[in-house]
Amino acid sequence: MTKRYLVTSALPYINGIKHLGNLIGSILPADVYARFLRQCGKEVLHICGTDEHGTPAEIAAQEANLPVPQYCEEMHKTQKEIYEKFDISFDFFGRTSSRSNHILTTQIFKELYKNGYISEQEISQYYSEADKRFLPDRYVEGTCPHCGYQKARGDQCDGCSALLNPEDLKDPYSAISGSHDVELRRVKHFFLDMPKLEPLVTKWIEQQKEWSDVVRGVARKWISEGLQQRCITRNLKWGIKVPNDLPALHAISQIDPSNEEDAEDKVFYVWFDAPNGYISITQDWAINSGDQEAWKKWWQPDNENDVFYVEFMAKDNVPFHTVFWPSILFGLDTDFKKVDDIKGFHWLTYEHGKFSTSQQRGVFTDTALELYPADYWRYFLLANCPEGADSDFSFALFASVVNKDLADILGNFASRVVALQKKYFGLVVQSELTDATIDRELEAKATKIAQNIACLLSERKFRAATTGLRSLWVLGNEYITQKSPWFVLPEDLEQGGVILTHCLHLLRTFAVANLPFIPSTARKIVQLLNDEESAVSSTKIDESVNFKYFKKGHAVREVGILFEKIDEKTVQALTARFNGGSNT
Ligand code: 2FM
Ligand code: ZN
Repeated sequence: MTKRYLVTSALPYINGIKHLGNLIGSILPADVYARFLRQCGKEVLHICGTDEHGTPAEIAAQEANLPVPQYCEEMHKTQKEIYEKFDISFDFFGRTSSRSNHILTTQIFKELYKNGYISEQEISQYYSEADKRFLPDRYVEGTCPHCGYQKARGDQCDGCSALLNPEDLKDPYSAISGSHDVELRRVKHFFLDMPKLEPLVTKWIEQQKEWSDVVRGVARKWISEGLQQRCITRNLKWGIKVPNDLPALHAISQIDPSNEEDAEDKVFYVWFDAPNGYISITQDWAINSGDQEAWKKWWQPDNENDVFYVEFMAKDNVPFHTVFWPSILFGLDTDFKKVDDIKGFHWLTYEHGKFSTSQQRGVFTDTALELYPADYWRYFLLANCPEGADSDFSFALFASVVNKDLADILGNFASRVVALQKKYFGLVVQSELTDATIDRELEAKATKIAQNIACLLSERKFRAATTGLRSLWVLGNEYITQKSPWFVLPEDLEQGGVILTHCLHLLRTFAVANLPFIPSTARKIVQLLNDEESAVSSTKIDESVNFKYFKKGHAVREVGILFEKIDEKTVQALTARFNGGSNT
């Protein structure tokens, strides 16, 4: 049985347009991986969508002066369009507020309840008089009891990464209004019995073969701290309603509708329904593709090894995907495919400070596309992917990468080759390569680099793979510089023609290897070569070196400059416009 590849990117929150850090923290590398696998002829499904519940959605809608459903619908459309412009090849970009997710999440909850993994407890929760609402964990801020960070959130401290409960915070206040007029009130909520699920999850974690030490370390750390009962319901209006028709299976009281506070709108905690979204969005993909049952071959394959499932996400999401969501799945009778590898990313910083959605600090995906085409960003972000550690964005570095790698190395090679081909041969291939004329040394070097790129991509090492891609372009430049066809051609058309034909073939290898990383540029090179896009997209990178591909008489085309350079004045203007470094 050939393996199928299921790829999911962490579902971006609905509460606004995402920044470049969000893009490189899951969606972009996932896209490169999915594109690479498709190019290898694999069956791939890349799933993503908007994470639409929780207080952030309600607050964002309130700020936009829109009803929550309308806000979510509009923002979903906006985010979807932005990812399309970034050439992200999702098979489906869905929504966690869908009917499918309501049905699935309710079913999952009921099954957990039936199996005894849900408990009911009365807890203390902050209520803000000023906001007239219960404050969800992350909307209570205060001082971290562990490290003293003063803006720690009630769910997690950004100072020391510790997971917190709101009542752990010292000097709590509402993060919505800033009001300190907050009081703890007693309310009943449902809890996931994580301690009961721990043995199953721990065994599974230790069996995982693909996980990096860092990812496994995150999971082990949480488990070694001792898993607690985790509250999975919230007092909110917007979300997936907690069902009120539960059978009385436990000797615990049910949430009492006659109690005013219990009767508040109760919905599931956003992290309880969001990961289920991976499954329900696949169900929506299936409905959309005309075969309602098609989702099952991804989530309920006959043999779990038939599907290789990789999740992409930023590091703050790792605990939820290594421990929390798997615990939920292990508590079910219904079997769902569990993840095989979790690819976690560090942070992309902006001018050595934080990208911040709330403070609108940094470059956001919509604005980025107004400034430069998608491939400029895709290449920069992948070349500087925060894979082993955090990495930094600045316009100065962005310009230097664009100018050196994209304009000077890749773009310049293509334009020199086309200009010479035009000048001497009217854009027509003159010298078809034969066993006698093929440069075997060049062939061996190009093959080795292409194989290395393919190997790194299959191992999901994006930064190194992008370095490999660059070294392929460098090889082309070294070759043309060393052979100097501009000196040879005036003297010897045959010899010069052979050099140029090698260059055209190298350009084809570039097109194949570029495809997962910078697809639009790959398509431009395909146009330049007057080749078939489908031929390039079905050629494997490690088999892309073929110096006999173009025959004598094949005509190529001029496509103009591939990449514009960014000058110093523009860098300064952009840095100033985006408030670089002033708010670190
Ligand atoms: O951190 C985030 O952006 C979350 N919205 C990710 C959710 S991933 C999944 F579980 F849905
Ligand atoms: Zn802390």
